[in-house]
Amino acid sequence: MTQQDYMDRELKYGAHNYHPLPVVLAKGEGVYVWDTDGKRYYDYLSAYSAVNQGHCHPKIVKAMVDQAQKISLTSRAFFNDTLGEYEEFATKFFGYDKLLPMNTGAEGDETALKLARRWGVVKKGIPNDEVKIICCEGNFHGRTISIISMSIDPESYANYGPLTPGFIKVPYDDVDALAKVLEKEGDKVAGFLVEPIQGEAGVYVPHDGYLKKCYDLCKKHNVLFIADEVQTGLARTGKMLCCDHEGVRPDILILGKAISGGMLPVSAVLADDDIMLNIKPGEHGSTYGGNPIAAKVAIAALSVLRDEKLAENAERLGKIFRDELNSFQHPMKKLVRGKGLLNAVIIEPHNGKKAWDFCLALRDNGLLAKPTHEHIIRFAPPLVINEEQLRESIDIIKKTFKQFA
Ligand SMILES: Cc1ncc(COP(=O)(O)O)c(C=O)c1O
Repeated sequence: MTQQDYMDRELKYGAHNYHPLPVVLAKGEGVYVWDTDGKRYYDYLSAYSAVNQGHCHPKIVKAMVDQAQKISLTSRAFFNDTLGEYEEFATKFFGYDKLLPMNTGAEGDETALKLARRWGVVKKGIPNDEVKIICCEGNFHGRTISIISMSIDPESYANYGPLTPGFIKVPYDDVDALAKVLEKEGDKVAGFLVEPIQGEAGVYVPHDGYLKKCYDLCKKHNVLFIADEVQTGLARTGKMLCCDHEGVRPDILILGKAISGGMLPVSAVLADDDIMLNIKPGEHGSTYGGNPIAAKVAIAALSVLRDEKLAENAERLGKIFRDELNSFQHPMKKLVRGKGLLNAVIIEPHNGKKAWDFCLALRDNGLLAKPTHEHIIRFAPPLVINEEQLRESIDIIKKTFKQFA
């Protein structure tokens, strides 16, 4: 089969809810992926930061295979011998009392919303029908009905019928806006949900101090500070959590993506007992949440991040990446921004060519990246990348810019 055959089959039998770059991948190892013709590429998307540990990391693969041969799923109707091990490991790793296991990032966010609302009613004493959550304009938290109800992007929410009420949207990176809303209606607000860097919005990095100031405001108004670290967490931005850059410990922490190193959907919500224990047996859950394979894989994936010092690597190589991309002028290159190895280049259309055309040329030159919002290209390689590989991929990006002179 040709790559076109594979693409045609997907388009014929699959729903058209994505617009993939035309390349058909068949193999991955470390920072590389290969297409069905055997051509090798640097993966600069890392499955939206899910494969921080690199494709098919042998320790994570082993954890997965070993567990799959023992028992894969028990459901939570029974205890199993792996979930507690994972919960103990992860709560000690991140410093929380409890972990609630789910599967996708969106489910993690939904869980955090439910925890915050429940805490708001039970602990803060907000009337059930009046609980509010503050979220940020430009957010991306996933695709469920409630989550898209927080979105300001019509592509996400338009024509999906009535949306979920109870959200207040404030501009991102605007402490005063948050302060104003909290002054006005803080007594009805249970939580403030924020991405430490807005990934899908185009790697929008807020001003230094933003998270800390928001956190302090939340404390002042008895509001939970909820960090969606599904994309920014797990070493991606040069610290284990992006909130660590400002010494902020979220009241509710949402993790996903790289917590399984790209092996299977695993997400987790962490919080202390005062928040977590307001949800009682039967009041929330998921058939696959906390399954034995996920538990073992997550322990292995977190261990790899720590043992291979991937946060430190992201911090060091991210600086080189931004310095190098800032070291030349090009009419298509408007701005480079990011933290650690979560970076983006804002593309200015040039001679009718846009970010999409640039990504096609990158592909031809052996590097895969994908535009977000038409004019922004995110560059987020697996964090196991070494300096030689980084410099080789920077050369590919520079060469591609030259082709658009
Ligand atoms: C910050 C953030 N939260 C949540 C999600 C949703 O994760 P999932 O696609 O696993 O539902 C994403 C996905 O890109 C994300 O970037």
